[in-house]
Amino acid sequence: MIQTRFNYDGAAQFLPNDLFSTRNDQIQNAWRQLTEQTGKGNDFLGWLSLPDTMAAETPKIQDVAKRLAGCSEVVLVIGIGGSYLGARAVIEALQPHFKMLEKTGKSPIILYAGNNMSEDYLFDLKNILDEKEYSIIVISKSGTTTEPAIAFRIFKEHCEKKYGKAEACKRIVAITDKARGALKQLATQEGYDTFVIEDNVGGRYSVLSPVGLLPIAAAGYDITRILEGARQMKELLYGHPKPKENLAMQYALIRNYLYNSGKKMELMVAYEPRLYYFIEWYKQLFGESEGKENKGIFPAGCIFSTDLHSLGQYVQEGERMLFETVISVEGSHHTLPIPFDEQNIDKLNYLQSKKIQQINLTAETGTRMAHIDGGVPNLRITVPTISEEILGELIYFFEFSCALGGYLLDINPFDQPGVEAYKKNMFRLLGKE
Ligand code: PA5
Repeated sequence: MIQTRFNYDGAAQFLPNDLFSTRNDQIQNAWRQLTEQTGKGNDFLGWLSLPDTMAAETPKIQDVAKRLAGCSEVVLVIGIGGSYLGARAVIEALQPHFKMLEKTGKSPIILYAGNNMSEDYLFDLKNILDEKEYSIIVISKSGTTTEPAIAFRIFKEHCEKKYGKAEACKRIVAITDKARGALKQLATQEGYDTFVIEDNVGGRYSVLSPVGLLPIAAAGYDITRILEGARQMKELLYGHPKPKENLAMQYALIRNYLYNSGKKMELMVAYEPRLYYFIEWYKQLFGESEGKENKGIFPAGCIFSTDLHSLGQYVQEGERMLFETVISVEGSHHTLPIPFDEQNIDKLNYLQSKKIQQINLTAETGTRMAHIDGGVPNLRITVPTISEEILGELIYFFEFSCALGGYLLDINPFDQPGVEAYKKNMFRLLGKE
C-alpha cells in the first residue's frame, strides 16, 4: 500500500481549473512514451524495471555488504554525481544524525570520496583512515571520471600499504561497466568483487541498482524494503494512465504548467535535516535531466526552518519566479518533551504540552500559508515517516516524474551533453593527451 501522497491545494490558485482536462493528451502522451519506451533516450530506460530485476541480485549484494561491514569501521564510497548521491541520500535519511560520534554503532560509518578534488579533504580523510579498519566501494560507470579516479588511486595505494595486496583486494569492491573503462580493467586485473551497471541505466537513475544498494546494505539498511517501496510505486504509476489517479503525472504536469507561466525555479524543501542529501540527489536528478536546449526548471533546495532564517526572506518577497515543493514528514521516530520551567523567563511554557514534531509541522503550515500569500505556489509530497519503503517510493516517484517532465519539455531526460564542457577545458589546461 503506497504511503506517499501528493497534494497541490497550495498551488490551486495559480493553476487553471481545467488543467488536467486541457492538457490530458499531452501528459498521457508523455506517460506512453515512457512506459512504452518510445520517447527520446529510450535506450536508457533500464531503471524503470530495477525494482523487479534487482531481486535476483539482492542476495549477492547483501553477502558482499555483510563481508565489508564485518571487517570495517568505515566503508569508503568513492564516486561522484549519480555514482554516489543516491546512496548518500538514503543512508543519511535513515541513519541517526550523529552516527559519526556513536561509540556503539553495529554498522560501519560510510564516508565518501571522489566527489570533489579538494586536496585538504583527501588529506584529512587519509589521516582518518590511518586509524580505522576500512574497505572501499569504488563506483564509476564510465570508469574514467577524474574525481573518483584520483581518489581511488590514493586510497587503493593506502589500502594496499595498510593491509598488504592480497587483503586489500578483498576489501575493494568495484561497480562499473560490464566491459569498458579503466575501472573494469583494473577490477579484472586485481580480482576485485565486481557489480555491473547495465548500459541502459544512467548514473542519476542508478540508485536502485548495485550503485546505491551495495553502500546502503553496507550501512546496515534493508535493501529489500527499499525495492519493495519502489515496486509498489511502480505498480501505481504504471497502472494508472490518468493524471487524476497518478501522482507522478499530476506532479509533472503542474511543474510544467508553472514553468511555462514563469515559475522557472523549483525549491525542494524538507523540514527534516536528514533529507538534506535526498534533496541533493533530487537536484542532480532534475538538473541533469531537464536542464538542456536552454530549457528546464532550475532545481534548488532548502531545509526549513533552518533556511527560513536565510533564504526565507527571498522566498517570501524576492523575485516571483519560483514555486515550492515540500517533502512533508508527518511523524518523528522519537519523542523529546519540552521541559516545564517554573520561572518561564523564555515564555515557552505555552509549548510545553506540545510535541516538537507538532511545532515543526505547525511551522510548515504557517510557512506554506505565508508563501502562498506571497505568490509562491506550494506543492506537497506527504509521507508518514522516513523508512526504507518510503524512500523506495519517493525515489521511484521522483525518477518517473522527472522522465515525464523531460518529455513534456521535449528534451532527452537521459543524456547530459553539457557536463563535458568543463572537462574539455580542464583536460586541455592540465595537458592531458
Ligand atoms: O548522472 C550521471 O550520469 C552523472 O552524474 C554521472 O553519474 C557522474 O558524472 C559520474 O559518472 P561515472 O559513474 O561514469 O564516473
